[in-house]
Amino acid sequence: MTLKMALNTQHAAPTLSSKNIYLRPVIKADYSVIKVYRQDPENCRYIRPAESDTKTMAIVEQLSQPWLFSLGHWNGLAICLKDDDSLVGEIAFRIEDWESQRAELGYRLSGEVAGQGICSAAINLLIDYLFKELGFFKLVAKCDPRNIASIRVLEKSGFEKEAFFKLHYLMGDEWTDQYDYGLLFNDWIAKKPC
Ligand SMILES: CC(C)(COP(=O)(O)OP(=O)(O)OC[C@H]1O[C@@H](n2cnc3c(N)ncnc32)[C@H](O)[C@@H]1OP(=O)(O)O)[C@@H](O)C(=O)NCCC(=O)NCCS
Repeated sequence: MTLKMALNTQHAAPTLSSKNIYLRPVIKADYSVIKVYRQDPENCRYIRPAESDTKTMAIVEQLSQPWLFSLGHWNGLAICLKDDDSLVGEIAFRIEDWESQRAELGYRLSGEVAGQGICSAAINLLIDYLFKELGFFKLVAKCDPRNIASIRVLEKSGFEKEAFFKLHYLMGDEWTDQYDYGLLFNDWIAKKPC
């Protein structure tokens, strides 16, 4: 199995759909909505200190570009509700190791819609796309052990905890622990109907 795209090439970000949500390319006009949760200290609690307007604008600018398959480059999609087309979060991936066909996932959701299974629906859509359409062999995610909601999202999707790193990440002025989670293509296919 190899990746189905070439290194350092661009790819139009797809639109992916499930029963209640869809994922679509980010556009620059999403900035005002994305800014609200990206600058909410509670939302940022286990990720990094809340961002400045300039930083958020730069991230929205990057996420609104076509996907770029280069090492470490984050490619994202907006998470939207089918009910009213509102943007409620974002989900992204970056290639961690090209030869080993491995990518890292990250996600954020507005606190207003937390606990309704929306992030789980979003991650399942992206996982399916990354494995089946792009050919990744393994997906990984890193999270703070105190981030119970994120751990639940990962474990509900079949990710397994593979490592614990003590005082691994400097978040503002706080050293934090990290769990590394992993999900293999074969395990995803075995659990999900193709
Ligand atoms: C993590 C996050 C994306 C989860 O989104 P979500 O849409 O609420 O996730 P889901 O509803 O799909 O699942 C959350 C699960 O965690 C559970 N949960 C949430 N907080 C919990 C807590 N304090 N204790 C126990 N369970 C908790 C929910 O009950 C749910 O589990 P269930 O489906 O078994 O009931 C969202 O909370 C978020 O954006 N947080 C801030 C950004 C962030 O931390 N991103 C992840 C970085 S690793």
